[in-house]
Amino acid sequence: MPKKQEDLFANKSKSWDMNSKRVQNAKSIAELIVKNIKLNKDMELMDFGAGTGLLSFFVAPYVKKIVAVDNSPSMLQEFESKCNTFACETEVVEKDLSAEQIDRVFDGIISSMTMHHLKDLTDLFNKFYSMVKPGGFIAVADLDKEDGTFHSDNTGVYHYGFDREVLEEIAQEAGFKDVHFDTASTIKKPERDFSVFLMTARK
Ligand SMILES: C[S@@+](CC[C@H](N)C(=O)[O-])C[C@H]1O[C@@H](n2cnc3c(N)ncnc32)[C@H](O)[C@@H]1O
Repeated sequence: MPKKQEDLFANKSKSWDMNSKRVQNAKSIAELIVKNIKLNKDMELMDFGAGTGLLSFFVAPYVKKIVAVDNSPSMLQEFESKCNTFACETEVVEKDLSAEQIDRVFDGIISSMTMHHLKDLTDLFNKFYSMVKPGGFIAVADLDKEDGTFHSDNTGVYHYGFDREVLEEIAQEAGFKDVHFDTASTIKKPERDFSVFLMTARK
């Protein structure tokens, strides 16, 4: 049994949705997912690192069900507290994907701002591959390469954003094809702007 990690979001979960830039970022990512991927009301998706459900909320009207996977009990508690406002079925699964696997397959995996919390991306993309049905998709968003100033505290942050080409190679090595990048949004902070990409790919 893997050792249970500390909940790094315990002090942030209650106020997570009060940050309007965060909500706008999730909305922009969701709009780009809806534009780039043909979603339908038969689909069951996994939202990896779903947190309080910001991304799930905006994607929900287009799919049958979203399974929220996260290793933070406090963030999932917030997700659950508002799941009757989501326009699709939801299910919450507390799981640390850096240590464990989920023996289920989905029509697609969506994710926003979570990959930078996982050290081993080769392992993560191999897991994604095994959790997506043949012909299914991934649509994952995170920061482009940054200088380490995006987070005021970098505890639990393993990557200061990502180089798109490196990520493309990792996804292809895992078996994904049709890898495509778009810029989903720009998060403006006083010191500088941070761009957020959406990577989509097919199994
Ligand atoms: C920056 S938050 C993003 C939350 C949400 N996707 C959003 O856009 O508001 C990152 C989330 O990933 C989760 N997370 C981090 N590492 C994880 C892991 N190894 N397995 C599952 N979830 C993880 C955290 O608990 C947190 O809820």
